[in-house]
Amino acid sequence: MAESMQGLKRTARCAEFSADDIGKNVTVMGWVQKTRNKGGLIFTDIRDRSGIIQAVFEEETCGSSVFEKAASLHNEYCLAVTGLIRSRGADANANISTGAIEIEAKDLRILSESDTLPFQIEDETNTREELRLKYRYLDLRRAPLQRNIALRSKLAMSVRNYMAENGFLEIETPTLVKSTPEGARDYLVPSRVHQGEFYALPQSPQLLKQLLMVSGFDRYFQLARCYRDEDLRADRQPEFTQIDMELSFADVDTVIEVNEGLIKRMFKEVIGVDVELPIERMTWQTAMDVYGSDKPDLRFGLPITDITDIVGNSGFSVFKNAYEAGGVIRAIRVPGEGHMPRKKIDALVEVAKLFGGKGLAYLCVNCADDGSHKSSFAKFMTPEEIDALIKAVGAEKGDLIVIAADSLQIVRNVLGNVRLELGRSLDLIDKTAWKFLWVTEFPLLEWSEEENRFTAMHHPFTAPMDEDWQYIDSDPGRVRAKAYDIVLNGTEIGGGSVRIHQADIQEKMFEVLGFTPERAHEQFGFLLEAFKYGVPPHAGLAYGLDRVAMWMAGADSIREVIAFPKLKDASDAMMGAPSEVDDKQLKELGICVDESIKE
Ligand code: AMO
Ligand code: AMP
Repeated sequence: MAESMQGLKRTARCAEFSADDIGKNVTVMGWVQKTRNKGGLIFTDIRDRSGIIQAVFEEETCGSSVFEKAASLHNEYCLAVTGLIRSRGADANANISTGAIEIEAKDLRILSESDTLPFQIEDETNTREELRLKYRYLDLRRAPLQRNIALRSKLAMSVRNYMAENGFLEIETPTLVKSTPEGARDYLVPSRVHQGEFYALPQSPQLLKQLLMVSGFDRYFQLARCYRDEDLRADRQPEFTQIDMELSFADVDTVIEVNEGLIKRMFKEVIGVDVELPIERMTWQTAMDVYGSDKPDLRFGLPITDITDIVGNSGFSVFKNAYEAGGVIRAIRVPGEGHMPRKKIDALVEVAKLFGGKGLAYLCVNCADDGSHKSSFAKFMTPEEIDALIKAVGAEKGDLIVIAADSLQIVRNVLGNVRLELGRSLDLIDKTAWKFLWVTEFPLLEWSEEENRFTAMHHPFTAPMDEDWQYIDSDPGRVRAKAYDIVLNGTEIGGGSVRIHQADIQEKMFEVLGFTPERAHEQFGFLLEAFKYGVPPHAGLAYGLDRVAMWMAGADSIREVIAFPKLKDASDAMMGAPSEVDDKQLKELGICVDESIKE
């Protein structure tokens, strides 16, 4: 039986009442969290997004028909209860915020009944994620998700306020756009009117925001929905939201200044964290050399030291071979871990192999019973070489040193990941820390083995550093970009760059990326055309809003801060998307599905 709410008005949310309201007649509306029938008394916890309040039905006060109705309540029924707020006196429940009070129920309406749920609505759950996402609307009733979604809303509001106060205009851009070849794979939308042609869903509003600069809007922002068809991870979804901005007449420092203000504001306003400014800056080169990552987690130490010159010519063939092949040898000193069990060291070797290494050499400084070193390679080197190595990494008795030898790229990757594994497994990460970092001076280009050409590391519109442009022909890989990422606790939460605004540099850039002038024109003609009409120097940045919200919420996946996220295979378990469509729809689009590709 579902009753109408006609004539009833909710006084406030359940948990918005306090002892100050004792004696007031109120109406609350919400869901039955649990109900206990103790014979003459029925206790019902009513839940809404604010929290829980207890209602008590007593036959004498509420009358027998209301009491009977109360006796029929089950979990998750949606109801309205009217009654008097009273003190619970000595029966107060310290576990809920309204524990000192309760509603002495006078009236009850069952607004709708509920079937038994596929899972309980409780804070901690071990329900499979697939089931949670299939019934996401129920999953979202859980308090942690209610909090996360509210936090996300607060974050969006905080961003909007800051941006507005700093002269940014919020401008929407289309989500049916032109497919462009750089970046991730596009999601395509077939056109009915132009059969055989496709729109793409934007991977970001990059080109459009640059055009808004040409239009003179000088400070733009948007909470922009972006779409990328790429492999999903805990911090990647096929559709996600960017806090996207672009500024005219701005260089790297201006963008950083504006964004440090934004970061300070949003972390204070949303979660009360004071971010210390200025945020540390590190060049990409240093990040890669010292932390083996372009997004170093600075919540713990364990820097990497280059020892190529010290051990490259030693008798250990692994080191010597790497050195002679033009590679590097680098080490991490792990203080006090010289007695690490062999099994744990072997696990580190496995990490090294997982990330492309052939192995991981180790030395435990003076850890053997006779005071000598325990090591996988010491016997191949002279005592002088070993001493020099220990000195170079600053190690002391009882320390562990792990070493990788290989090409520069592999060693960075291996030791970067071994470092993270050490941080995690040795519990070195300060979980209370908020370590922000600007990583600057990224390379403009990176070599793609797959495509046998240079590709843009950020995107093709990123400006080179003036002093490096001279190398664009002779040594393109050496040219650094005016590009920056903002990193939080080892995740990239945002990135951006100063853009190219000079036609000749842009043309050259396309040439280096392997575009013929015709192809560049076909793909980006509208931008190149626009740039003929007085383009201001401009720069911008975009954060992954989901990632920022994830950190603020203390969640371990962005799925926890998105109302309706996709599963790892990019499907929507609730709606059942993607799905097949009517033949009629396909026909209208001029699309024919190859039946042989269906599983
Ligand atoms: P970029 O590609 O670095 O830059 O994206 C900016 C930020 O968006 C977030 N992000 C994602 N979040 C969730 N799921 C994904 N699949 C995903 N992909 C990216 C990251 C990232 O730092 N137009 C440029 C920005 C600019 O130059 O202004 C851009 O899109 O947090
Ligand atoms: P091997 O000669 O393969 O038995 O390796 C001897 C030691 O060197 C073992 O501890 C290996 O894990 C280690 N090792 C092998 N390849 C590398 C490498 N590329 N870098 C560092 N250590 C390595």
